[in-house]
Amino acid sequence: MDAASDASRTALMVCAYRARATRWPQPIMHDPWADALAGPDGHEIAARFDERFPHMEAWLALRVAFLDRLVGVAVDRLSVRQVVVLGAGYDTRAARLPRAGVAFFEVDHPATQAAKRERLAHLAGYPVDAAHYTSCDFEREDPVERLAATGLRTDEPTLVIWEGVMPYLTEDAVRATLSTLARGLSPRTVVAFDFVGKRLVEGTGISARDHQTRAYVDDLGEPLRYGTNHVTPLLAACGYRWVRQYSFDELALEYLGDYDRDRQFRFQHLAIASPSVPPAGWP
Ligand SMILES: C[S@@+](CC[C@H](N)C(=O)[O-])C[C@H]1O[C@@H](n2cnc3c(N)ncnc32)[C@H](O)[C@@H]1O
Repeated sequence: MDAASDASRTALMVCAYRARATRWPQPIMHDPWADALAGPDGHEIAARFDERFPHMEAWLALRVAFLDRLVGVAVDRLSVRQVVVLGAGYDTRAARLPRAGVAFFEVDHPATQAAKRERLAHLAGYPVDAAHYTSCDFEREDPVERLAATGLRTDEPTLVIWEGVMPYLTEDAVRATLSTLARGLSPRTVVAFDFVGKRLVEGTGISARDHQTRAYVDDLGEPLRYGTNHVTPLLAACGYRWVRQYSFDELALEYLGDYDRDRQFRFQHLAIASPSVPPAGWP
């Protein structure tokens, strides 16, 4: 998204998938606000995406379940008192996972954040004040400067969740954002993010269905721009010392209890990273 972009439509789409996954008979995540926030437009965008990537709902549910659990570990077991959601879209963790003494900060592109706040204003009962909001275009602005101006303590350990955003940024913005988080926040900060493989972004040697996936987000105005097969050198170059990676197949096995070759999570990955070796207890 560039500075003049409209609000993100992929953010509405993933919100619709959260709503659907919340209705599973045995849900692995629960977002009571997602249905209303996604609205008919979000559900329609998701419905059209289903045929391109039929496992999107499962993938999204796993991503949210893992990151929700990470918030729980950080605030309940490791005494982290600040949670930053970067590129928040219609994220509702500030409302869903509140804890006394824990501050949530939501950062997003100004157009998406304005659209979200407009929807929240019509959502009865939503605790709008559960988060501090700050806008930032990662392509041209420094999120740490923006967060510090909104009250984030840069000397305190922070959990940063950067969910579903990196693939939409240029490599320069990815590197600049990772670097400023490592340099500008407490070294005890942990950054969690998902990313996609290079071939999906470049469109080389991928299936017809994967081509359709790329084309669909392109048509939504949010083309895939950055993918990597080697996240550890990227993180090392950006100032990180500790990295853990997770496979969605392994998370599916854990959360859903099975392995299904057809899920095709081969381009989707999750990582958590810190500029220093964090205390024991992080997964
Ligand atoms: C697929 S949505 C994910 C939203 C949310 N994290 C979630 O998982 O529901 C992509 C998000 O990236 C944000 N984004 C894309 N490009 C951006 C940029 N240049 N600066 C800031 N945010 C950006 C969009 O505004 C949107 O909220």
